[in-house]
Amino acid sequence: MEEAMKPAELRELAAEILNENDREGRYTIPTKGLYPFQWNWDSCLTALGWTYLDEDRAWREIETLFEHQWSDGMVPHIVFHEPDDGYFPGPEVWSTGRSVPTSGITQPPVAGFVLRRLYQRCADPEEIEERIEDLVDAVDRWHAWFFETRDPQGEGLVSIIHPWEAGRDNSIDWDEAFERVPTEGITDYVRRDTEHANSAHRPTKAQYDRYLWLVEHFRSLGWDNSKLHEASPFQVVDPGFNAILIRSCFDLAALAEELEMDDVAQRNYAWARRGLDALENLWSDPHRQYLCQDRTTGQLIESTSIGGLLAVFAPIRHIRAQAIAQRIEQISAECRFSIPSHDPADVRFDAKRYWRGPVWLIINYMINDGLEAADLEESSTKIVDDSLELIGSSGFAEYYDPKTGEACGGGRFTWTAAMVLEFLQDQ
Ligand code: GLC
Repeated sequence: MEEAMKPAELRELAAEILNENDREGRYTIPTKGLYPFQWNWDSCLTALGWTYLDEDRAWREIETLFEHQWSDGMVPHIVFHEPDDGYFPGPEVWSTGRSVPTSGITQPPVAGFVLRRLYQRCADPEEIEERIEDLVDAVDRWHAWFFETRDPQGEGLVSIIHPWEAGRDNSIDWDEAFERVPTEGITDYVRRDTEHANSAHRPTKAQYDRYLWLVEHFRSLGWDNSKLHEASPFQVVDPGFNAILIRSCFDLAALAEELEMDDVAQRNYAWARRGLDALENLWSDPHRQYLCQDRTTGQLIESTSIGGLLAVFAPIRHIRAQAIAQRIEQISAECRFSIPSHDPADVRFDAKRYWRGPVWLIINYMINDGLEAADLEESSTKIVDDSLELIGSSGFAEYYDPKTGEACGGGRFTWTAAMVLEFLQDQ
């Protein structure tokens, strides 16, 4: 292994990557080639990194994303700012009919959390007050959209209707429910991702066919969100996704309170509290963690993934947070680097394939944040140390093999760089 890089060196490299992936000072692409547009949760988490380089640029990143919010409140998972045929499925497949094309599904709503953090760090809160009020309103409308369209029975938690919405595209969590998604009748297509990254690290063809079937099905319904949840054969309640939403509701509410936006504050506190109560239904005693739930059957899904541990990002009960800290220790003990995105004891674990085993720095960041908030620093220190060590030995990759530390997927990755800046903050 090479000699460890010094914090100053790491900072400089991280800044170089952000600048290299910056587009017109308005948004940041995740990485050249593989992901040439603006992605929703990448952008929000990347804004945290921008705060160390240029505060105004950090706000701009989020503003650009929200300029493409749909009139129903949805914030799409991709904004196709500039044409680029190196990515599939491109705008013509989504056909959402917008002047600047976007995809038609969403991604983990981490914006509320990020907004509050940006505000806490900002040099002159008064100067940006108007700017932030507009964003608070926009995020509030996004949250309302979730509870209206993705929780039709008012259960307190929302479903994802496409695996890409979870941001954990090919997680083992979706395998069983995915069996229900047909593949007949999809238009022929050519994948582009495997031209930029090793196909052994990417989702399989069978998974891609189903991703595409869902997109074409939703498109045939005119992307009408009042119909899509009901019409989807894939409806999964992901504890990680919901924890992000709950945390963002709490953070948005606290921020709104400071800005004297009382309606927004009350609404978001109410959603957050109801969500926290409902999250308890996803706890599994035998597995010592939260599990996903298949909403079409009501059953919990037997899959011990990182989604169930990411729940600690929300202010869950202390005994739950402690149990999660123990689970993390347990699954990380079998790896060189924490935290694997799936339990290595599961036969389906795959150390190099995307979300079926590899370590992702953004997940490490959110879990670390939750553990710190629960006063479980002892468990969180290893996560930060491992994260920085991975960068030192393998560079700023998209994700890493937890057993060997090998860099996988795309390189010079934006949100990895942003998370490094965050981790270095306390060093
Ligand atoms: C992959 C990831 C997703 C991310 C996107 C861009 O699709 O699974 O979480 O947002 O790449 O980095």
